[in-house]
Amino acid sequence: MSQPQHMHTFCNATDTFTQTSLYEINRNLLLIALAETSSLVTYLNATVGLSPETVHGMFLCRGEINATSCSDCVRTAALQVATNCTLSKKAVIYYEECMVRYSDVSFVSELEVRPIITRFSLRSAPNLNRFNKTLSDKFDQLILKVSSSSLIPYFLEDQELVTQVEGSYELKSMVQCSPDLDTSSCTFCLKFAFLRVSTCCGSPSLAQVFTPKCLLRYKTSVLPSSPSPPS
Ligand SMILES: *[C@@H]1O[C@H](CO)[C@@H](O)[C@H](O)[C@H]1NC(C)=O
Ligand SMILES: *[C@@H]1O[C@H](CO)[C@@H](O)[C@H](O)[C@H]1NC(C)=O
Ligand SMILES: *[C@@H]1O[C@H](CO)[C@@H](O)[C@H](O)[C@H]1NC(C)=O
Ligand SMILES: *[C@@H]1O[C@H](CO)[C@@H](O)[C@H](O)[C@H]1NC(C)=O
Ligand SMILES: *[C@@H]1O[C@H](CO)[C@@H](O)[C@H](O)[C@H]1NC(C)=O
Repeated sequence: MSQPQHMHTFCNATDTFTQTSLYEINRNLLLIALAETSSLVTYLNATVGLSPETVHGMFLCRGEINATSCSDCVRTAALQVATNCTLSKKAVIYYEECMVRYSDVSFVSELEVRPIITRFSLRSAPNLNRFNKTLSDKFDQLILKVSSSSLIPYFLEDQELVTQVEGSYELKSMVQCSPDLDTSSCTFCLKFAFLRVSTCCGSPSLAQVFTPKCLLRYKTSVLPSSPSPPS
């Protein structure tokens, strides 16, 4: 079993339910349903229980991971969010591979950019003086393409060999929106996520941003340089 990489857990502490309530039972049933379904699909929204004890939930796996990793991630996330957010009415848990959330309020089709989490490497990107421009050009393109595509789920990945006088490197990038968003909300969400990545922490060699409705990620790898010609 591959080990999903935990990013952050947001438990809403202001809004809680009481132990052994119907809400707790519904929340746990919902999380079991999400975990069970995660071996079949990469996205699900689901609702359990009657008002006012209704619990809404969803999971979303990163588009490029396989079914086994998706399911491993959602199962782990569902278990951890129930353990860590024991009595919260709303919670979101982010892993690098997937996210799982539940709430007493329906969020299908809602554009939400919070809570947001960013993970980045401490190493700097290559070709620093041009990296910002390279990266924003890349994400401008990807965001435009993924949001104007009628393909659901919204997911696009890209791999480019960036060749500049300073040196060459590989840039892998991806963007993804939750399938319940319309195209303009998808664009907004990804632009917001990209703004976060480009202002969070300089120019890291790797970064990933997750919001409840979209995610964005890139990774650079410097290629071994070719032997310099004899002088
Ligand atoms: C669970 O909560 C503890 C204490 O707040 C925290 O240190 C830990 O990282 C959390 N784990 C997960 C998986 O959310
Ligand atoms: C917690 O939930 C309340 C409403 O139920 C909301 O107003 C508040 O913003 C939430 N807090 C966080 C940190 O999400
Ligand atoms: C799925 O991906 C994980 C992580 O990359 C890998 O370890 C595993 O072998 C893959 N499983 C299948 C069935 O391809
Ligand atoms: C959300 O889930 C419900 C069933 O639980 C389904 O009818 C609906 O189509 C889903 N909505 C979206 C936008 O995926
Ligand atoms: C790239 O942009 C980030 C965020 O605006 C900034 O912190 C960084 O200094 C910029 N790097 C260069 C080389 O301009």
